[in-house]
Amino acid sequence: MALFKRKQDPTPSALPEDIVLPQHVGIIMDGNGRWAKKRGLPRKAGHREGAQTFRKITRYASQRGIRYLTVYAFSTENWKRPEDEVGALMGLFKSYLEEALTDFKDDDIVVRFIGDKSGFSPELQALMTENEESSAARGGMVLNIAMNYGSRDEMVRAVKNICADVQSGRLDKEQIDERTVSDYLYTAGQPDPDLIIRPSGEYRISNFMLWQSAYTEFVIMNKLWPDFQKEDFDEALRIYSQRNRRYGGV
Ligand code: IPE
Ligand code: IPE
Ligand code: MG
Repeated sequence: MALFKRKQDPTPSALPEDIVLPQHVGIIMDGNGRWAKKRGLPRKAGHREGAQTFRKITRYASQRGIRYLTVYAFSTENWKRPEDEVGALMGLFKSYLEEALTDFKDDDIVVRFIGDKSGFSPELQALMTENEESSAARGGMVLNIAMNYGSRDEMVRAVKNICADVQSGRLDKEQIDERTVSDYLYTAGQPDPDLIIRPSGEYRISNFMLWQSAYTEFVIMNKLWPDFQKEDFDEALRIYSQRNRRYGGV
């Protein structure tokens, strides 16, 4: 049986028609382990359930008209977890990435990966590339899947690349500005996230999009990721629409 079976989407709940939608939403998909623990299940059961939520919310975000969605799936720090948990996650990524080749086709979703791909097995890396190449020409929402992603790691990599380009003469040191730095990150060319949602009630950023989130609105929700529903996504959009973004002005 397919690990991720496509289910019929219920009709999205009503949101005011004049709602201000974020263009780019980030989600720190947290709380899988606690979800499993509450049920006396192994942590990997929580990750399995979390993967289902990921599919549901991704398609829903696209149907809601979100242009960019970035989901945090595996951090550069998550390698320090017990070997069997990391192994289970890698297995889940493999099954998922095989299915993702066709999964998001109907919604015209462009799949991209942000993070250091070289940390994964050649098989996983090939699947990531295949997903990116086969979806690149689509015209719908851009889905960034952050895997082996760490914002500090991303910035170190950007600094190295900037230095290399200055050294080779491709880049003039005097011309470096904020835009240049953005252009050397994995998210080059994309707008910064307007809204970052963190389920599971943790009030921290855990190395996610540090540069990009300078003026992002944060919504922390007291729900574990596997319990996260479309209504919760709408609730985050509603909270976002009521925020007054000032960017340092008045
Ligand atoms: C998020 O859920 C998934 C990953 C980090 C891979 P967690 O596994 O962190 O769940 P909690 O925070 O322990 O509940
Ligand atoms: C952040 O969650 C990473 C992902 C959701 C992939 P963590 O569970 O790793 O973060 P901490 O350890 O609570 O800060
Ligand atoms: Mg966690």
